[in-house]
Amino acid sequence: MHIIITGSNGMLGHALTAVLSKQHKLTGFDLPDLDITNLSALKTSLALEKLDLIINAAAYTDVDGCESNADLAFAVNATGPRNLAVVANELNIPLVHISTDYVFDGMSTVPYKESDIPNPQSVYGKSKLSGEQHVRELYSKHYIIRTSWLYGEHGKNFVATMLRLAQERDELGVVDDQTGSPTYTLDLARAIAELITEPAYGTYHITNSGTCTWYEFTLEIFRKAGIGGVRVNPITTEEINRPAPRPRNSVLDNYNWRMQGHHPLRHYKEALADYLKSLTKEDIK
Ligand SMILES: NC(=O)c1ccc[n+]([C@@H]2O[C@H](COP(=O)([O-])OP(=O)(O)OC[C@H]3O[C@@H](n4cnc5c(N)ncnc54)[C@H](OP(=O)(O)O)[C@@H]3O)[C@@H](O)[C@H]2O)c1
Repeated sequence: MHIIITGSNGMLGHALTAVLSKQHKLTGFDLPDLDITNLSALKTSLALEKLDLIINAAAYTDVDGCESNADLAFAVNATGPRNLAVVANELNIPLVHISTDYVFDGMSTVPYKESDIPNPQSVYGKSKLSGEQHVRELYSKHYIIRTSWLYGEHGKNFVATMLRLAQERDELGVVDDQTGSPTYTLDLARAIAELITEPAYGTYHITNSGTCTWYEFTLEIFRKAGIGGVRVNPITTEEINRPAPRPRNSVLDNYNWRMQGHHPLRHYKEALADYLKSLTKEDIK
């Protein structure tokens, strides 16, 4: 297939490129060359070649930044996917769109299924939900994939940040009242490669297996990386006082993925071990 990846310079964009380039012809787009908020530019760029699939990994992902830049958040996270749905419809090719656990309010005591009612609390979550809704309303040949707590090569992420902080400090406070499933971008990209082999369109939750709090995840990162000299203290969400509210429960039940006959993704601890092996000094600067 000839696949377009928007947001190809981002963390997931890199992983998608690494995984899909083995089997497909890829064309990657990102800012400043292509802005998904500009429909006419999108039409011009994507009309050039025969295409088979669009994957949208572009987003405005600064969750706290979205609180003070709502217009930009909605332009990129809602209008952007709407534009891509318009173009995919015109070209009659499927659209893969990536979304997030932040569409839920996090108050559930059990993992969220695809059929649960979203109730985003942050501007980021609201803008991402709006993007999902545009895609669903405009074009049926879509895969909407909600994922959570992403980390991977070529991106600022929690694992790399904790490793950097461990070099700078001997004590850290890490949030212990938000629970989720850390997900390795390469594992998600491999799952997407599997999903697009059949036209089973719809909404999917796709994350690595297992759950933890950020505090527990940090202990596991340091254990696996052999870091012993840093004291890690559990703290509450209130204590760090960030502009955007975060879901307490971010755990996504990968129900539709399993029902479609796919194997659950491996445990996050196993995926973390692979990511740590791939890290270079540059990655944790
Ligand atoms: N990171 C997570 O923990 C997480 C969790 C759940 C879901 N997700 C979702 O997963 C997807 C990928 O996330 P990620 O972590 O890979 O994000 P990322 O590293 O921030 O990559 C997003 C890419 O999109 C580009 N972009 C921003 N605005 C654009 C525009 N108007 N037109 C074209 N490209 C634009 C960014 O460019 P600039 O860098 O120049 O802005 C960046 O290269 C997103 O949909 C995100 O909402 C992420």
